[in-house]
Amino acid sequence: MTQGPIGVVGAGTMGAGIAQTIAQAGIPALMIDQSPELVERAIAGIQKRMAQRVEQGRMPQDEMDGVIANLRPITSFADFANCPAVIEAVFEDPSVKEGVLPEIEAACSENALIASNTSTIPITRLAAKLKRPDRFIGIHFFNPAPVMKLVEIIRGYLTTDETITTATGLAEALGKTPVVVKDLPGFVANRLLVPMLNEAVFLLAEGAATKEDIDTTMRLGTNHPMGPLQLADLIGLDVLLNVMEVLHQEFGDSKYRPAPLLKQLVRAGHFGRKTGQGFYDYRVS
Ligand code: CAA
Repeated sequence: MTQGPIGVVGAGTMGAGIAQTIAQAGIPALMIDQSPELVERAIAGIQKRMAQRVEQGRMPQDEMDGVIANLRPITSFADFANCPAVIEAVFEDPSVKEGVLPEIEAACSENALIASNTSTIPITRLAAKLKRPDRFIGIHFFNPAPVMKLVEIIRGYLTTDETITTATGLAEALGKTPVVVKDLPGFVANRLLVPMLNEAVFLLAEGAATKEDIDTTMRLGTNHPMGPLQLADLIGLDVLLNVMEVLHQEFGDSKYRPAPLLKQLVRAGHFGRKTGQGFYDYRVS
């Protein structure tokens, strides 16, 4: 891939994490969202977490300064003209992504890689809105993006081998291990992981064990770094419900039905860590 800054569209949890990953790899990340305030908030969040690591002596100050200097807010897609790649990480809604991707494409150079970070939306569907679907691909990062080593590279129906090679090269340049997967619902990771988390919600609702014991079971019994209900709160219950609904709808198989308690928590606005409440309470008292 040719040199140059990488564009990141969307400054939510995933967009900010992806921008931080790029900046930590020594590459400038051009960050844009609907308003400059959203990008400022994302950068402030990254800065706060890094400052804690500097205070704890786990990161030198000059390394932090270098990363922050690589986070470059922009206010127009026109700044993507010299980017070899742009990663879209806007709200996980097909119509929102379908609206923004053609605008990104119009601003990019002819050979730029255009990628969508999505947990479930078919890449082939998003590609249908583009003039050059051959250079479009899915790059699925995991939360927290700066920490998790894997990225799924999703090949759309019209994605070329050359685009796959460029995307895997980019993932490696960002210090990630890429796996190339087919454009199937949930790809690989979410098809395996999310039904397991959903099953943990069924177990909780059935009174099989307390939430703490369900989490301890998987942490100590299967060496997962977090229990399923803790992980559900980290990922976001709204995100999980969306993944389950897509799996259920696309496969038409009742094994993917979302747990009623998951639906109820989402309806109550309890999305997990990001709203302060999920299966656990994160509000500081
Ligand atoms: N952003 C950036 N860095 C973060 C971070 C964040 N949000 N959260 C933690 N970190 C960093 C910390 O700074 C720390 O780095 P150093 O050791 O280099 O200083 C490191 O991660 C470990 O953090 P902690 O010591 O605070 O905590 P921990 O050891 O308990 O690890 C964890 C936290 C990395 C989240 C770990 O519990 C874990 O791996 N959990 C599982 C996460 C997982 O499965 N993610 C995938 C979700 S599925 C998904 O994302 C796909 C989807 O589409 C739904």
